[in-house]
This record gives sequence, C-alpha cells and structure tokens, in this order.
Amino acid sequence: MRNVELKARDPDPARTLQLALALGAHDHGELSQRDTYFAGARGRLKLREQKPGEAELIAYRRPDNTGARTSEYRRVPVAEAGSLRKALDEAYGTLVVVNKRRRLLLWEGVRIHVDEVEGLGSFLELEAVAAEDSDLSHEREKVERLRKELRIEDSSLEAESYSDLLLDGPERLLEAADSAMRNAHAPYSRFPVGAALRASGGGIYAGPNVENAAYPQGQCAEASAIGALVAAGERQITEVAVVAEKEDFCPPCGGCRQRLSEFAGSDTPVHLGRPGGPRRTLTLAELLPHAFNLDSRAQPALPDARGSGSSG
Ligand code: THU
Repeated sequence: MRNVELKARDPDPARTLQLALALGAHDHGELSQRDTYFAGARGRLKLREQKPGEAELIAYRRPDNTGARTSEYRRVPVAEAGSLRKALDEAYGTLVVVNKRRRLLLWEGVRIHVDEVEGLGSFLELEAVAAEDSDLSHEREKVERLRKELRIEDSSLEAESYSDLLLDGPERLLEAADSAMRNAHAPYSRFPVGAALRASGGGIYAGPNVENAAYPQGQCAEASAIGALVAAGERQITEVAVVAEKEDFCPPCGGCRQRLSEFAGSDTPVHLGRPGGPRRTLTLAELLPHAFNLDSRAQPALPDARGSGSSG
C-alpha cells in the first residue's frame, strides 16, 4: 500500500480539532497506541498495539523529507502481540518504543491524526491512502488543501518519524546508558549502573560503574562517562541519562551531582529510567540546588539563616 503523508508539530491541538470538525471531518475518537520498533530491519519494522483495536506488524519505507511525501508499507494482523514482541526483541533487539494518544479524524479519505506523543509533545499528521493505480496527484492535492485549511506553517513541518525524534532525544541517551550498564564491573555491590552524557558537540559518551576489591577505589558510572567525554575533548554536558539494573529510577549520588555540575548547567536535564520504560526528568539544579562553585557570585543566593545561633 502507498500513501501521501505529512507531519507537523502542533502548538494548538484544540484549535486543529476545531478547524477539522468545522471542515466536516468525521471524528473517530481517541486511540492509545504503543509502537515497538525493532532493530536490524531494512526500512522500518514496528509492532503496533492499540486500544481500541487489533495489533498489527507494520513494515514500511519512507524518505525523510518535510512536506507531503509517499510511503510504502505492509500491514499484517497479529494475534499474539505480546509473544511476537518478545520474540522480535530477543532476535533483533528493540530500537525504541513510541507511546501516544491519537485522535483520529477522516476528511474526504484523508486521515487526520491529532497526536500527543509521550516525551515529544503534540503533532498533527495527514495521511491520504492512495488508490492502487493512482499517480498520487489527487492525494497530494487533498493533503495540500487540508494543510492550508488547518493552517500548518512551513516552519512546523517535521521530516523525522516519532521513532527517530525519540532516538535523537532522551531515548537514545537512555539506550547508550543501558548498554554501558551491561558492561558494568559491579561484582561487590551487584548494582550495575550506566550513565550517558550528550556533549555540546552532539556526541554521546557513556560509562558504567567500575568497582574494585579495595572498595573505596570503585567509581560511579557518571564518573566513567565524564572521563570519556573529557577524553574526547568535550567540556560541556547538555543532557544526562542514568540507568540502573535494579532501580526503575536511579538518581545520581551526591558526589556525582557535583561531578556533573563541573560540566553541566543548572538547567541541564537528567533523565532517569530505562529505554522504552517510564522516565523521570529533573534538572541538575533540582538535584543539586547549591552546588559547590569556587566563584560564589555564580551561585544562586543561599536561603537566609533561620535564627542565628541562639534558640527561640
Ligand atoms: N553508583 C553509580 O554508578 N552511580 C550513582 O550515582 C550511584 C551509585 C554505583 C556505585 C557502586 O558501584 C554501586 O552503584 C552501588 O553503590
């Protein structure tokens, strides 16, 4: 099957919904969808599990360019989604999981998706499924018209798939932290940890905890990752992820918060979680409000002393 489709960031989904309904689009209600993307595929391979609705395996290819483009795909109904997900994950590995709530509308055969994507925000997608012998010009016209009616600006068009957007963001960093964690040397605590840092140059540097028979010589995952980043000639951390095998959310220890603050800003996001799982994101300042700094003028003001020595 083929379709002509377009994706854009949507700053105002409520307005889009109103505009679409005013045009006479038919509202098919809300779906909750979980797409698991598998590694090792030519093109893309994802398992879609949804409520309401049946699960399906979707294989597709599509060029990454903004504006209306064509996509070729194959959809296969799946009876045992959970087992298939595990089998494909064991065989090929999971690249990323995309969770979203989708409001589906139909206008003259064009699907309108008003999507709220976990970790990414609000998007609008238009999809015109092509008739078998179509030269696609009719489908392109419809998508173009709808694009104008729904007031989609050029600047909000998005070329990348949700999976790639996530892979470029926190999910990608959690993946890197997770794979470093799998190489942790933690025979004493049996508490493997992985940290991944994005540097201002865009590169990702990861490391695990490395313990030692002389216990205090052990080093945290964050310290290993910082070493890799500094060795690469980087000095600025723009994003952090920490993954632990035995904790859903593993906040960096106090010492590592200070280590990170050497190279990161107070607004730098620190993602806690694991790939494909729930995630908590805090800023470094939330984790370490009064970091040590040799220049006290660069510090946020300390709270006023409560009482001054004497009680009462
Ligand atoms: N650990 C880290 O690697 N990072 C942290 O922020 C917390 C603790 C490691 C250190 C030690 O190898 C193990 O976790 C148990 O404390």
